[in-house]
Amino acid sequence: KESKDQLIIDAGQKHFGATMCKSCGMIYTASNPEDELQHVQHHHRFLEGVKYAGWKKERVVAEFWDGKIVLVLPHDPSYALKKVEDVQELVDCELGFQQVIPRCPNKTKTFLFISDEKRVVGCLIAEPIKQAFRVLSEPTGPESPSTKECHRAWQCSNVPEPAVCGISRIWVFRLKRRKRIARRLVDTLRNRFMFGCFLSTNEIAFSDPTPDGKLFATKYCNT
Ligand code: ACO
Ligand code: ZN
Repeated sequence: KESKDQLIIDAGQKHFGATMCKSCGMIYTASNPEDELQHVQHHHRFLEGVKYAGWKKERVVAEFWDGKIVLVLPHDPSYALKKVEDVQELVDCELGFQQVIPRCPNKTKTFLFISDEKRVVGCLIAEPIKQAFRVLSEPTGPESPSTKECHRAWQCSNVPEPAVCGISRIWVFRLKRRKRIARRLVDTLRNRFMFGCFLSTNEIAFSDPTPDGKLFATKYCNT
């Protein structure tokens, strides 16, 4: 009986087996031509988008044993802005965001975490805000696993609280998660967003957090 179970499991793995690409992080079924094509497209786009050759004038705002953080500002050279655009496109695609126009494009600050392999493996986009609404509790209403919108329907307070800095995007490359890259990006942001002061966690707000984003934000703000 045991061996029969084992057989079924093996057969299942061969047929449905999902692979994760070690370069682009996409999970796909190698035996499915449609999936494979999608992977090839994503793979090229991803590697092109996150490649970081190094810039003559780069603003390194933090350095670590496994990489560095580069800050890009709205009036930087076009090659830097283009890179930010490419990364944001990948991030938005992964998060399922439609094109979002920043509220004050002239005040957006983008922090890129560059790995030792010269890849952009983390990205944080921040903008000044005046107020935010606290996330109150777990999502209400029936759990509907099929749509992303439902996952994001956290209940928010309707009492605005003063805030200074809104994090409109935070993203870490799938295979580099849980290595404190997001934490280091937010630490650097708090240090760098306003000249001469270190923002408290009450002064920063995460816009429209995903489940991952909410878990990270909760943990980050309590420690
Ligand atoms: N589940 C549970 N706890 C988590 C998770 C998670 N998925 N992610 C982070 N945490 C908590 C942990 O306590 C972690 O510390 P630990 O690893 O010592 O336990 C702590 O947060 C710090 O985590 P980091 O390692 O700094 O976070 P990471 O670099 O993995 O990045 C992020 C977190 C950005 C949310 C990443 O998972 C990601 O890119 N997800 C997909 C994109 C996304 O959903 N982004 C948020 C969108 S919301 C917005 O942009 C405003
Ligand atoms: Zn790939």
